[in-house]
Amino acid sequence: MAKRLTELTWDEFKGFDVYEKGACLMAGRDHVFHTLVAQQFDREFLDELCDLTTTIRTVAKDKEGMLFLKGLLAHKRAMLYFSQPSSRTFLSFSAACQILGIDTEEVRDTSVSSEFKGETQEDSVRTFSSYFDLIIMRSKIAGLAERMAWVLSNSDRPIPIINGGSGRDQHPTQALLDIYTLQRSFEDRGGIDRKRIVFVGDLLRGRTVRSLATLLMQYRDVEQIFVAPRQLQLGEDIQELLQKGGVEFQLTDDFDSAVLEADAIYMTRVQDEWDDETGDSRKIDTSRYHFTATHLDMLKPGAIIMHPFPRRKEIAVEVDNDPRAMYWRQMRNGMWIRSALIAVTFGVDRKIASYA
Ligand code: CP
Repeated sequence: MAKRLTELTWDEFKGFDVYEKGACLMAGRDHVFHTLVAQQFDREFLDELCDLTTTIRTVAKDKEGMLFLKGLLAHKRAMLYFSQPSSRTFLSFSAACQILGIDTEEVRDTSVSSEFKGETQEDSVRTFSSYFDLIIMRSKIAGLAERMAWVLSNSDRPIPIINGGSGRDQHPTQALLDIYTLQRSFEDRGGIDRKRIVFVGDLLRGRTVRSLATLLMQYRDVEQIFVAPRQLQLGEDIQELLQKGGVEFQLTDDFDSAVLEADAIYMTRVQDEWDDETGDSRKIDTSRYHFTATHLDMLKPGAIIMHPFPRRKEIAVEVDNDPRAMYWRQMRNGMWIRSALIAVTFGVDRKIASYA
């Protein structure tokens, strides 16, 4: 039986592998509290969250339903603590809070908070917990959300933390919206099970890829193909997780063959914001990994094209109007599944199901 965060020292929790951490986060709970790593979620949770997301979308179709949703958490306040740039994650969480009636505040620039005066992130987060009921955070520091969750769990204001992207490490809510997009796209073809998912681009430093690749392990017989130049190929830690999980996967630099075989192709940009730590990726020619209008003829009729965005040149704009281009829908799905996640976090999911 996994221990709870309150039963562990920080060093003990920090020393766990990612699945052990996930087990601690869910220990003794009947619903999710902190959302920190993709590995904390099992298939049952994913199926239920996707169903709830669809229910919320349906309820929100008319004014009466929107007003019902808006009344559910009107007594809650959330802090959006985004010290690393974001458009979609920040705005979709903000919109998700609005859907559920939650008031929000934000810190996006720590040069105008007391961190500028030398306040630690621990003290900042404890301060937020004095005023808010939920913290959604993004940081360039891997593991910072975990540290903050441990700090708050061991404080007298143990409010939930949702990780909106931490370092090169994890982006669990992006993986949830990607799963929802895949599930909806394949719902009349047996769902995600037995599909071939192709990841392309900067797989070494793309946290969305790392989180989604491990969530896909919850589905039966999903084959994963990782297409990248050698210097940007998938990290050994994720390869090890896939191996241990018995996942069929392949590393390659043959983009065109992968396009022909894909059920879903997940494009990513070069994450050169990490270059100081990991070399100069701007010197790598990635142009042969770009999805152009020509590739549309190679892609299966029922396949889909995804991208977590922002994009640069990985997908030509001419591709945008093809019905298989799913990336605009994918980002809207983010708003709905983040609403569902917040609803579950505060335990109002059953009220939504009853209303529907
Ligand atoms: N996909 C994603 O995380 O986008 P933002 O960086 O704009 O939030």
